[in-house]
Amino acid sequence: MKNKEIKGLIFDLDGVIVSTEHNHFLAWKKTADQLGVKFSEHENEKLKGLSRVDSLKAILAIDNLIISEKEFGTLMLDKNEFYLESIQLLNESNILPGVKNLLVSAKEQGIKMAVGSSSKNAPFIVKLLGLDDYFELIVDGNMVADPKPHPEVFLNAAKGMNLKPSDCIVFEDAESGIKAALDGGFHAIAVGNKNIAEMAHEYLNDLTEFKLDLYA
Ligand code: G6P
Ligand code: MG
Repeated sequence: MKNKEIKGLIFDLDGVIVSTEHNHFLAWKKTADQLGVKFSEHENEKLKGLSRVDSLKAILAIDNLIISEKEFGTLMLDKNEFYLESIQLLNESNILPGVKNLLVSAKEQGIKMAVGSSSKNAPFIVKLLGLDDYFELIVDGNMVADPKPHPEVFLNAAKGMNLKPSDCIVFEDAESGIKAALDGGFHAIAVGNKNIAEMAHEYLNDLTEFKLDLYA
């Protein structure tokens, strides 16, 4: 019995295709320590999926810190430098369970795929993982005016595939991403993060649990 007819799959990158969320956390932790802000994995949960700007704003808001625009820019540059340093060795082995098999099967069945990420480093990381050939397009943090939880990133991905949101599944690991998918009219599947299971249409522990034949 089919769940629903799907023509497109849209993947968030960090925490869905590749395990980079800890790299982001460590880089933001360094920033928070510099600012003297208490920042643990718990606080980081709220940052998942947010843009770099919104992530730093969220960290400053923890202690209601006000800093100059110049300092804000420097902290973002430093964070990105530290993050990029930490992901240089990313390769196919860092791809999360079930992802590669799903990309291969979906491509064989002519299902269109895209990446929708708030990260400005998304194209670089997809290339590092050797996955660029599977995607019609990558919509990243450089290409949207309104980052998640605004649905723009996923709406642009669907448009780029000439598909309607209702014809697409969005796979996400963050609250901001599931909100963006739901507001955009997509079928929202939460992956690997039990905190957001209730708010999505479906929950999977990882993508080995996704049954493509129920949708294609
Ligand atoms: C993703 C991650 C966030 C990160 C954001 C911006 O959405 O889930 O944790 O802050 O991308 O990443 P960037 O690579 O542009 O700093
Ligand atoms: Mg994510």
